[in-house]
Amino acid sequence: MPSGGHASEAIAVAAERRWAFIVMGIIGLLVLMMIVTGLHWASMPPSRVETVDVKTVHLKGEFVESNLGTAVGSDGKVTVRLIAQQYSFVPQCIVVPADMPVTFRGTATDAIHGFIVGRTNANTMLIPGFVATFTTTFNRTGEQLMPCHEYCGTGHEAMWARVQVLPPQEFLAKARSGERLSCVPR
Ligand code: CUA
Repeated sequence: MPSGGHASEAIAVAAERRWAFIVMGIIGLLVLMMIVTGLHWASMPPSRVETVDVKTVHLKGEFVESNLGTAVGSDGKVTVRLIAQQYSFVPQCIVVPADMPVTFRGTATDAIHGFIVGRTNANTMLIPGFVATFTTTFNRTGEQLMPCHEYCGTGHEAMWARVQVLPPQEFLAKARSGERLSCVPR
């Protein structure tokens, strides 16, 4: 069956060539997406190079336990400070206002962790020795799950926190005390 063999070979070559063009097209599209998002949205890795000493992070400075949670500065800016460790976030429940810019500042103490807040764009890696920071605005009130999304060990899938997004007035009324806020039951 030599003639049949030749016909199927021609079909196979044509199909392979077609798929080679499709794959090259996909690669070209992905490279184009990288260029467009990089230039147009100035996308960049969320962690600027801001370091913190992992050996003293619990003992002094910005990430001591009493300073973790949500703070409202004298200028009205809202900052959430948090720590990730195997296998939990501190605080385990985070309070933020809706419709106001919220700056997250976080780090990890043992392994690489990360988090994403529900379906929002609040999403970062947390790397020991580095401070990850980003600013976002939540436009919907309610509770969101905040899972760890970097594999960090055997307890990874059980590592998550909650984020409560409150109406701005309710949030500001709670924040008036000047303490660090969280929704962890005491
Ligand atoms: Cu922490 Cu996965």
